[in-house]
Amino acid sequence: MTFTQRHLLGIEPLHPTEITTILDLADDYVRLNRQPQKHGDALAGLTQINMFFENSTRTQASFELAGQRLGADVMNMAMQASSIKKGETLIDTALTLNAMHPDLLVVRHPHSGAVDLLAQKVNCAVLNAGDGKHEHPTQALLDALTIRRAKGRLHRLNIAICGDIAHSRVARSNIILLGKMENRVRLVGPPTLLPAGIGEFGVEVYDDMREGLKDVDVVMMLRLQRERMDGGFIPSEREYYHRYGLDAEKLSHAKPDAIVMHPGPMNRGVEIDGEIADDINRSVIQEQVEMGVAVRMAAMDLLARNLRAARETREVMA
Ligand code: NCD
Repeated sequence: MTFTQRHLLGIEPLHPTEITTILDLADDYVRLNRQPQKHGDALAGLTQINMFFENSTRTQASFELAGQRLGADVMNMAMQASSIKKGETLIDTALTLNAMHPDLLVVRHPHSGAVDLLAQKVNCAVLNAGDGKHEHPTQALLDALTIRRAKGRLHRLNIAICGDIAHSRVARSNIILLGKMENRVRLVGPPTLLPAGIGEFGVEVYDDMREGLKDVDVVMMLRLQRERMDGGFIPSEREYYHRYGLDAEKLSHAKPDAIVMHPGPMNRGVEIDGEIADDINRSVIQEQVEMGVAVRMAAMDLLARNLRAARETREVMA
């Protein structure tokens, strides 16, 4: 097992063997989570604080459940109601929490880079639960686990990431992860929703959905992220659905056994047809949610091991 990180701030710093280590351990936790008795003790005695400065359903719930299943004391800070509203800075809030001796800090923040900054100020392990348009590492890891289990491998696959790529930290983390694991990634969407500097990503780009989906193994759809748009990125939702919404006809251009993914929350009838999303023969959207809990258990378990080892070393040195 190799995993040398102190924090999980993004996919960028991870070595491919570290990605495999997380996914292998997550497979064990999938088995545990399917038992009636779901308790492990990897985080026993540790304190986990979840700080979500942006709304979240799946991510927050699964981090909470993951911590509880492994025996941590889990606290959710209600960031909307916290002193941030009274003008306290992110760093002051972090230092206050740090004084309560947390071991794991799970942070979602609307600004890219905010979680990295926070990690420099605290002496516990920090997990990025999504920072602005930057990274969402546990989402990419749960997507990778879902793909590996459905396809039996995580290399040499053709994967189309479709829709609002420009505003998506999910897309960014997935592009990095899937590239590191030697897959062929295509981005499919209108030019207005592709990020600047796309050339550096090492991906193929399509603005025609049928061409973009041709013979792919995996179709990953993204939510149209209206809250991050400050102008007219698309003509209308109807027009967008017509050109880029995933329906049975467009999906027929992918491989016959291609899987359909979506990180949630979904806009049915905008980026994806509801029937495709619910089709248990094609859609792995519910599996993604299941893998989310297991991947977060694995990530926190590995970080806690490194945290304990670092603390022991410090005690020996002192
Ligand atoms: C994503 C996010 O918050 O970045 N959701 C999630 O974590 N499952 C994607 C999105 O909001 O569209």
